[in-house]
Formats: sequence, structure tokens, C-alpha cells
Amino acid sequence: MAEQDFSKKEKNYHADIPQKSEAFYLKGSNGYDWGMRNRLARIFNPKSGKTVMLAFDHGYFQGPTTGLERVDVTIRPLIPYADALMLTRGVLRSMIEPSVTNSVVMRASGGPSILKELSNEQIAVDMEDALRMNVSAVAVQVFIGGEYETQSVHNMTRLVDRGMRYGIPVLGVTAVGKDLVRDVRYISLATRILAELGAAIVKTYHVPGFEQVAAACPVPIVIAGGKKLPEREALQMARDAINQGASGVDMGRNIFQSDSPVAMIGAVRKVVHDSSSVKEAYQYYEEMKNRK
Ligand code: R5P
Repeated sequence: MAEQDFSKKEKNYHADIPQKSEAFYLKGSNGYDWGMRNRLARIFNPKSGKTVMLAFDHGYFQGPTTGLERVDVTIRPLIPYADALMLTRGVLRSMIEPSVTNSVVMRASGGPSILKELSNEQIAVDMEDALRMNVSAVAVQVFIGGEYETQSVHNMTRLVDRGMRYGIPVLGVTAVGKDLVRDVRYISLATRILAELGAAIVKTYHVPGFEQVAAACPVPIVIAGGKKLPEREALQMARDAINQGASGVDMGRNIFQSDSPVAMIGAVRKVVHDSSSVKEAYQYYEEMKNRK
């Protein structure tokens, strides 16, 4: 039986304190339901409003990518430094401890390998299974201008509809086909289309003129790292992207293919979350790399 409130302490309704009703801190995300915003808050640190996502889903179309031959050996040490893990369900279930507290961004599209037409993807994860894995978002590749453009857009919009039912945000990834120019005009076109069609987060590449891309995209943008660069250059790219309006990075090869992946992800965190300069972050990288 429920107990009655026999407390002798006088009730205090704090009637002089107005109830706070603050806007959600992420751009374009104020209209979502609580569950969706809570998942976004697990990806984007509420203090900085930014994220360091560690991307290691490359195997879904290119097999054992350099640095990912043994995820259990090479990625596990990086996990404590990432806000979110971007990966496939196969790797999550087989190699990631369920005790991790990072948010999970689940790769949910796929189909063709590097041997075939990459834009011919389909939805690869059911939303019910995404819920079972307690993901914070699902990710889908969208090939604007690609051979299967409409199909890949449809993959995203179906995931958005299903995600809205359960409060799961969709990360739309702008995939650049081999025949498409990766410039500000193309990236602005692709990112805006993904946001207009319901992506809660957009992932794209950093290009000269990125401030225009970020300004025209009504939802948070995270940048992919792309091919491995010298560490200082990768940190410069992250610094520029954040200064120009990115809400974080979703970086893979520039971290796990680094000479010192732990030092590199720490340095990336300094840029993204601590407003460190490239000089400071690179100095941190060097110090950590040389630490025995
Ligand atoms: C690419 O399609 C994969 O989804 C990767 O997650 C993405 O490219 C980010 O990784 P990277 O920083 O290595 O480009």
C-alpha cells in the first residue's frame, strides 16, 4: 500500500522561482520529442555542444581496412576518448563490450562492395534491431548525383520515418562518387537536401568555403576525416571546420591510421571540445606520442 505523506517538514513550492524552459542547445533540433533530444545529447556533449565521433564502419563496403584488421586490438583503446562510436552491428555485437557508455551511431545502409556500384545501397538495419542495440542514431549514405541517387534518398527518408516513431535520429552521410567534384557547390547542394528531407545530423567533407555549407544547413554538421593526412594537417582541418560552423567530427582513418591513435584522438578532442589551437593540439599529440 502506498504510504501517505506524514512528513512534519513544511511543504515548499518555491513559488518565487519560475520554472525554467530552455531551448535545446543543438541547432535545428528544438522541435524534437524528448527521446530524440536525449539521444542527440548523448552524441553531442551538452557542455561544448560538439562531438568527437570515432568512425570505424569502413568494413561494411571495403572489408578489413588498414588499421581495422582487428577492431578488438586497435579500436578498443580509443573508445574512452570518443563521444560516439560509428560502426556496424556486426562489429558492435562481436567486439564491443556492452558495458561501454559511449553513444552508438549505427551504420544502417549497405549492399554493394568496392567491387560494384557503391550508390546501389539499401537499408541494412531494421529500426527494431537498432532499438535492441540501444543506439543513439542510425547512419545512412546518400549519393546525391550518383547513379542510384533516388534510391539512396529513399533509404534515408524511410529511416527518418521509422526513426521518428521511436525517437531515433538519422545521420545522413553525403557520399561523393568518383565522378563528382568535391567542392562547396556540390557539398552545399548535398547537405541541404539531406537536412531538408529529415536528417537530424549531416556528415560531409570539409571543403574550402565550408562556412557557406554550414550556414545553409539547418541541422548540425559533422565532418569526415577522409584519407589519412599528416597529423598536423588533420588537426588543422578539424580546427577550420569547427571555426566555420561544424558541430564536430566523425573521423576514422586520420585517427586509427595515425602513428599514435590514442594521442591523435586526444588531440582531436582538444580542438573540438577545448577550443585548442592547432599548435596546442599538435604539441599535445607529440607529447602523448612520445610518452612511454
Ligand atoms: C565512409 O563511408 C565511412 O562511413 C566512414 O565512416 C567515413 O568515411 C568516415 O571515416 P574517415 O574519417 O576515414 O573518412
